[in-house]
Amino acid sequence: MNASKTVIMGITGGIAAYKSADLVSRLYKVGTRVHVIMTPNAMQFIAPLTFRTLSGNPVLIDSFQEDSRWRVQHIGLAEEADLMVISPATANIIAKMAHGLADDLLSTVVLATRAPILVVPSMNTNMYNNPIVQDNLGRLRDRGFHILEPAEGELACGVTGKGRLPEVDEIYSKITELLFPRRDYEGKVVLITSGPTQEAMDPVRYLTNRSTGKMGLALAQEVINRGGDVILITGPTHLSPPAGACVVPVTSAREMYDEVLRHYPQCDIVIGAAAVADYRPKAYSGQKVKKKEGDLVIELARNPDILAELGKKKGNHILVGFAAETEDLLVNAQAKMDKKNLDVLIANDVTQEGAGFGSDTNIVTIMARDSEPLPLPQMLKGQLAAVILDKIAGLF
Ligand code: PMT
Repeated sequence: MNASKTVIMGITGGIAAYKSADLVSRLYKVGTRVHVIMTPNAMQFIAPLTFRTLSGNPVLIDSFQEDSRWRVQHIGLAEEADLMVISPATANIIAKMAHGLADDLLSTVVLATRAPILVVPSMNTNMYNNPIVQDNLGRLRDRGFHILEPAEGELACGVTGKGRLPEVDEIYSKITELLFPRRDYEGKVVLITSGPTQEAMDPVRYLTNRSTGKMGLALAQEVINRGGDVILITGPTHLSPPAGACVVPVTSAREMYDEVLRHYPQCDIVIGAAAVADYRPKAYSGQKVKKKEGDLVIELARNPDILAELGKKKGNHILVGFAAETEDLLVNAQAKMDKKNLDVLIANDVTQEGAGFGSDTNIVTIMARDSEPLPLPQMLKGQLAAVILDKIAGLF
């Protein structure tokens, strides 16, 4: 997902309201603009401050709230939305939407928007099964609303049955599907390497680098958004992989090499976003290396070059690499592209502020065999992932 998309999250008064905090946080983290509207009842379950903090935007509650961002608040909001999500949706908001009532900000925006609307009902089983609620849901379906069925299980009221809010992963996947109807990666398997590698010298010490995995995960998310399958071979990271990716965790460059080669025959495209250590300590000490007088010299051995190896057996694969450079960006990047037999290379000058390791943004030049280098302005890694995938899709 990326910042070009705006989601309006409607929170109504149900016990599952707290789960939407996780949803808002996930949307925000991938660069989606999120505006939260709460009903007064929702505020009995969770404080607006939670959503204000997680979305980075003031929470909207009242139709007559002063807000300088829009000339007419409910219309401005409604027009800006790419998607509206009502989660949790109570029987009350479902009834209001089904009958066109507009007596508060949320129900007014629902009527005013032309964006798709996803409704995620959550309530007591008997209420959910009540024919009136089912009729209302039927009316909404007939009008093109998207309804995510509640899950079965033990409910907060002690009853077991249908009515639980589905898992956040499931709601998030549905949102992705609705926001990104473009499915140009459907049928494609994309292998992405991501994050750093760690090269152990003894049981407690290792060599590594500053990669966090943000770039690789942004690419994985974008492939999934666009209908593709992802094999994510990732070095150690604290970040969560996108739902739907087949994740293969590794630690060292040699493990990454083995896993990439093992999965290579099943994939169509490889994107090497990982910062793979070029060297490892030559000897591994099974015991912690003891401190002694004087300096310690560690001899380093070369690690295998994963992309270069794939470049030798390219076949019909599309191979994409990154180059993290600190000088002579284009010259060094071009040399890597040729040496590794790559189709596309993303050159980042990692000395620039807002580029490279750890930041949420990157500044790169896209190089390809079929075109002149394309320098791009600073953008969120999620946005950059979309541009890179556009470039690769042009090679299919
Ligand atoms: O993870 P983040 O914090 O978001 O940071 C993103 C990033 C800076 C790590 C990413 O944008 C990036 O530049 N990744 C490549 C870093 C790198 O190792 O560059 P390189 O110039 O050393 O390697 C060139 C290419 O060969 C890379 O695609 C790399 O994955 C690959 N390589 C390198 C060495 C090796 N032994 N095997 C490889 O396959």
